[in-house]
Amino acid sequence: MTVTDTPAPRAIEGSPCGGCVATDRRAFLLDAFKAGVAALVALGVAPGAAEAAPLRWISAWGGTRQEKLYPVPSGDGVQIDKDNEVILARVGKAVYAFALACPHQNTALRWEGGDNRFQCPKHKSRYRPDGTFIEGRATRSMDRYAVKLAGTNVSVDIDTLYQEDLDLAHWQQAVITLP
Ligand code: FES
Repeated sequence: MTVTDTPAPRAIEGSPCGGCVATDRRAFLLDAFKAGVAALVALGVAPGAAEAAPLRWISAWGGTRQEKLYPVPSGDGVQIDKDNEVILARVGKAVYAFALACPHQNTALRWEGGDNRFQCPKHKSRYRPDGTFIEGRATRSMDRYAVKLAGTNVSVDIDTLYQEDLDLAHWQQAVITLP
């Protein structure tokens, strides 16, 4: 087919824009898909976010009484070390270590992967994957442990816990940003 053989644009009957013109139905659908993705991004929802971030039960593999070591999570998800009451969460290139206890009345938090949220089973407070408070009876975000990168491990200092309302600067800095 030569360039001069290219079919002329035609109106699409019943199109939502009342007769808008497209040369190819697939291109039309692709444009609609791209518009949908752009709308999700504008709303702060990453493509693929509908997939549940996985939950794994883990144990610290090393460290000391105060410092717990965990391998750097390879992808987005939530890992819980029940023995040390630590939640390790990776969100993109950010890794956090949270206290398992809800900041309201210390109930163990749960990860609701389908909603991509932490939730307290007692009074239903909800938190984003980075621990920030959404709604409920709690009055602050999830408490964060001091963390640092130690080679290929996340080092969590379980003696140093930051509360958002008492020490906002350190709470905000309690994150590892992966390269
Ligand atoms: S103990 Fe979690 S919201 Fe009350």
